[in-house]
Amino acid sequence: MGIKQFVPVLAVLPMLAGAAFAGDAENGEADFKLCKSCHAVIATDGTVIQKGGKTGPNLYGVIGRVAGSDPDFRYGESLAAVSETGLVWDEENVAAYITDPKAWLEEVLGESKVKTKMTYKHRKNADDMAAYLVTVSPADS
Ligand code: HEC
Repeated sequence: MGIKQFVPVLAVLPMLAGAAFAGDAENGEADFKLCKSCHAVIATDGTVIQKGGKTGPNLYGVIGRVAGSDPDFRYGESLAAVSETGLVWDEENVAAYITDPKAWLEEVLGESKVKTKMTYKHRKNADDMAAYLVTVSPADS
């Protein structure tokens, strides 16, 4: 394939990637019941958006913040190590993380002896959940 045919293909790829993560936020919101045993969503001003447990960190503003950076939560050592790299959560990597936290940590850290404190795997519709988390992550959170 010559370079002329190749360039348009590259230009289309980011659009395809975007479409792949166009999850349904309403579905994600309905599925949040599966996260509530461990996670709440509480806005900076104290407004409770989702009542939930404290086994996991508050997920308000999670999209756009550095992984493992809630100062009120003690993360496991592997997610803390990711945090040190400055990795920022976006729809794509959050969807991958919640699908299989341990496998994601192994891949990102490039090691097989990771420890995750999130034992749950959200195997179905993770892109919908990611889209929902965007709605509770305003730019100023
Ligand atoms: C059994 C409890 C449990 C359930 C259920 C659970 N989580 Fe978690 N989650 C955790 C814990 C604990 C952590 C911290 C992980 C660590 O430190 O290794 C975490 C971390 C996270 C993080 C990273 C947050 C950050 O501050 O970097 C995200 C995102 C997340 N969970 C999303 C979800 C979503 C969405 C669901 C529901 C689909 C869910 N979790 C279900 C316990 C849970």
